[in-house]
Amino acid sequence: MSERLVVAIDGPAASGKGTLARRLASHFGLPHLDTGSLYRAVALRASRDGVAPEVAAGRLSAADLADPALRDDAIGQAASRVAANPEVRAKLLEFQRNFANQAGGAVLDGRDIGTVICPAAPVKFYVTASLEARTDRRVGELRARGGDPIRPRVLAELEERDRRDSGRADAPLRAAPDAYRLDTTDMDAERALAAALAYMAGKGFRRAGS
Ligand code: CDP
Repeated sequence: MSERLVVAIDGPAASGKGTLARRLASHFGLPHLDTGSLYRAVALRASRDGVAPEVAAGRLSAADLADPALRDDAIGQAASRVAANPEVRAKLLEFQRNFANQAGGAVLDGRDIGTVICPAAPVKFYVTASLEARTDRRVGELRARGGDPIRPRVLAELEERDRRDSGRADAPLRAAPDAYRLDTTDMDAERALAAALAYMAGKGFRRAGS
């Protein structure tokens, strides 16, 4: 297979897109970029430095992207607010495109990968799951990190974030017209990976040697 493999994965909060992205990247031996961590890092840097998000977007370092505080729920909410800022999005665009254009290919997950960042990607997924299933997953994640989440609050926050991400004018959360829709409501991570690999095999993308 000679076509450079770029896999674009989008979907709402806690839909399973990050898990699928990591597993596909490891299966194909590709680098992976969780683009949500960029917006989270901008929100965190803006609050720590007391600067506007578009200023913070120009100050990100590798350490910012590895900060464990990025996964806090409050940072997810703040990220979705800074992500509506077109100046912030413009400042993060080139880094994401360069990542996608690496010689060996790449896997990127986010909200606008198939529509704005990599519209020519040969493989696009739009990953969804019911609000109930997404809430259960996020509650589980927060508990695993030692938190004591209140389920109705987690649900309300996911809803609010999806509304904001889908409703913004610049690069809203949307499925690309050629994206393969994967509803993971009743799938564990293994089944979601198997479904994604089956789709990709049908398009001629298989791991070398399999
Ligand atoms: O992990 P989760 O699905 O909760 O969120 P995330 O992927 O870490 O993204 C955090 C926020 O960043 C989202 O709610 C979006 O507002 C924003 N984002 C975006 O606008 N564009 C992207 N490509 C990725 C994330």
